[in-house]
Amino acid sequence: MSLLLATGTAVVVSTSAQAATTLGASAAERGGRFFGTAVAAGKLSDSAYTTILNREFNQVTPENEMKIDATEPNQNQFSYGNADRIVQHARSRGMQVRGHTLAWHSQQPGWMQSMSGTALRNAMLNHVTQVATHFRGQVTWWDVVNEAFADGSSGARRDSNLQRTGNDWIEAAFRAARAADPGAKLCYNDYNTDNWTDAKTQAVYRMVQDFKNRGVPIDCVGLQSHFTGGSNYPSNYRTTLSSFAALGVDVHITELDIRNAPSDAYRNVTNDCLAVPRCTGITVWGIRDSDSWRSGESPLLFNSSGGKKAAYDAVLAALNSGTPNPTTAPPTTTPGTPPPTTTPPPGGSCTASVTPGTVWGDRYNTSVTVSGASTWSVVVAITSPQRVSTTWSGSFSWDSSGSVMTVRSNGSGNTFGFTTMMNGNSSARPQIRSCSTG
Ligand code: XIL
Repeated sequence: MSLLLATGTAVVVSTSAQAATTLGASAAERGGRFFGTAVAAGKLSDSAYTTILNREFNQVTPENEMKIDATEPNQNQFSYGNADRIVQHARSRGMQVRGHTLAWHSQQPGWMQSMSGTALRNAMLNHVTQVATHFRGQVTWWDVVNEAFADGSSGARRDSNLQRTGNDWIEAAFRAARAADPGAKLCYNDYNTDNWTDAKTQAVYRMVQDFKNRGVPIDCVGLQSHFTGGSNYPSNYRTTLSSFAALGVDVHITELDIRNAPSDAYRNVTNDCLAVPRCTGITVWGIRDSDSWRSGESPLLFNSSGGKKAAYDAVLAALNSGTPNPTTAPPTTTPGTPPPTTTPPPGGSCTASVTPGTVWGDRYNTSVTVSGASTWSVVVAITSPQRVSTTWSGSFSWDSSGSVMTVRSNGSGNTFGFTTMMNGNSSARPQIRSCSTG
């Protein structure tokens, strides 16, 4: 398969001969998407849990550990231990983190529940600033505001103490988050926003459109998609995804679970995301049925013993049959100077060759092929503020700056790859620092 980039350079994008065998690896091959899961810090000591987590997923969302009651239990006393444990677990394995969530009517600590007016507005903005600053550079996306619209036919904002501080509380939160972590993608996240004709979906759509028109910083919209736990999987779901995407935001399926995990619904949701180039990833809300907040409904992809359910096979098959690196992605920007195709190792005995991959408006893929060794370690430097958002076919670890990664062979062949978010620098490209054997 060859793609013509804006410069007229023909680039061969290699397609793997063998189908990917995990959700994260397959999603990454479908245009650099992620496939993630909610993670609970208390389960990181459960090896059955972490075995599946580490094998299958390339993105995590802390299930409760970044919520307001967890991170600021007393006003101006911040508590990050459990959230930091999840972030460390994820980032040391090359998984991207979605921060969830900075401003929400629910799971507020007692001190915040009893506040109102200017004091509450200021406390909320301080919370956004402090927490986004703490995780700066560690979190790829933030659910800045969660669930701010009412259910039903009104299309109104949800009544809450935050809403009563003034209708501009949402944009104020987004502006504070942008100032605190300019590299993070800022998302609005909600449920019952799946059916395109629902008043709630339309109301969120109009808010995002208004934010884009007025320059309020927003990069993405999350659809929780807790199906048949109050809302059904609608036949116009793909229209909802593509309509939001057409506003110029990425779209994510952020908390997917489906009562009784029917394979057809999971397959259709996956295909709907794959059909929309800016639907850049799916997160399921837990690993095994026993981990689910709706465990009585067995809504997830793994049974309580950790076995793959039929829905798992359906999702993986849908991912594997999706178009690799779809050419319907947003237009390419002009690539900068191509990186050297071969960098000799300093004293090592393997060679790492870079093949530039697809370039989208905001991100690009890179694959690296190692020759001369079957077990190897390659060091790659990324130019800040660019940041790697997805990885595949290697074992990735990072230095503390987040800009230098060491990639080790993990038995999945001699070619690894990754997606890099440009974050405003569209010309820099990854540099190979070294290739060593063993
Ligand atoms: C849920 C968690 O899964 C539970 O453990 C917790 O008791 C309540 O919150 N929408 C959201 C998530 O945005 O944060 C919620 O998570 C599920 C609904």
